Amino acid sequence: METEKRGRGRSREPVVVTGASGFLGTKLVERLAAREPVYSLSRRPGSLGSESLVADLTKGEEVVRALKTVSFSCCIHAAALADPDLCEKSPESAWRINVEGTRNLVEICRARRRKLVFLSTDYVFDGRKNGLYTEEDPVCPVQVYGETKAAAERLVLELPDSLVVRLPFLFGYTAPAEKPDFVTDTARRLWMGQPHAYDHRQLRTPLLREEAAEAILLLAGSPSSGIYHLVPSESATKYELARALAQCLGKPMELVLEKTAEAQPGCARRPMSMRLSNDKFLQAVSGRFRFRPIRDAIVQIAERFRSTKESPGDRLDSRQAQPKT
Ligand SMILES: NC(=O)c1ccc[n+]([C@@H]2O[C@H](COP(=O)([O-])OP(=O)(O)OC[C@H]3O[C@@H](n4cnc5c(N)ncnc54)[C@H](OP(=O)(O)O)[C@@H]3O)[C@@H](O)[C@H]2O)c1
Repeated sequence: METEKRGRGRSREPVVVTGASGFLGTKLVERLAAREPVYSLSRRPGSLGSESLVADLTKGEEVVRALKTVSFSCCIHAAALADPDLCEKSPESAWRINVEGTRNLVEICRARRRKLVFLSTDYVFDGRKNGLYTEEDPVCPVQVYGETKAAAERLVLELPDSLVVRLPFLFGYTAPAEKPDFVTDTARRLWMGQPHAYDHRQLRTPLLREEAAEAILLLAGSPSSGIYHLVPSESATKYELARALAQCLGKPMELVLEKTAEAQPGCARRPMSMRLSNDKFLQAVSGRFRFRPIRDAIVQIAERFRSTKESPGDRLDSRQAQPKT
């Protein structure tokens, strides 16, 4: 594709993906591997459908060694300590992974003049704005996770041609071998007839992880640089998502309760309403990408359970769902 040649400068040179074993990284690698060479940079070697590079991002010398002999056009940085509650409980780890890990990649990309695409979050804002946040608004995080991502953004933006892509709450069907996400875990509870309480105060703009991966690759392959909000306009609470899923799976609505308790002590504060303008993103991709309605995505996930003849209730209950955002 012509835009890819211009965007990444060197067409068909491999792309490096960090956090390749994660919820979003898995989908980025899957999509990239179908069309061009890709390296997965991970703490553990593994069969991720790509060439594997092993490094802990917080250890600068390991990262330099892993990338030393590798020729790449662009690095998509999806690795992070991405659970806000964990970041709140272990702020030092959060700063080490999210900021120092990013600094190590910035230095390599600066020295090698490679494009760095940093995946950030809508949690760099406090959610108090009356109206939509634009890319020009100053950041104002309310928890450690958002603070570390905002600090990492600043480092990345010092690099010419770098990209910061702010993402909303991601969801998707997770395979049995993966850590279940919010939707998959909700499906499992519904299937087993377990009532559960879901938050109905925090307004999010949920995005399917497959869609996020597709749009990130579009931006990464274009000449775009700077900050982009990759966020749909449609919003929903987790309670609304759970109800939509119950309906699609044909399960009783009574299983979906409304959470009344306040956040647990020690948990990260959550902004109540996350609404970001996506005008700049939609202009950059000019008709090549369209956000799917949330309802369609939920229907698709429910179908996925049906078509694989898998009942979500078959899944082991032993692993906690990714609490995430
Ligand atoms: N998921 C969401 O709803 C959401 C929303 C907004 C923004 N984001 C952002 O999107 C990106 C991807 O999120 P995600 O949900 O896919 O995260 P995730 O599932 O928690 O995956 C995190 C990844 O980072 C890797 N990692 C952590 N520490 C590392 C280190 N020291 N060295 C090397 N790799 C390390 C993990 O590798 P191991 O397998 O070794 O642990 C894992 O592959 C993150 O930057 C996150 O902040 C996510």
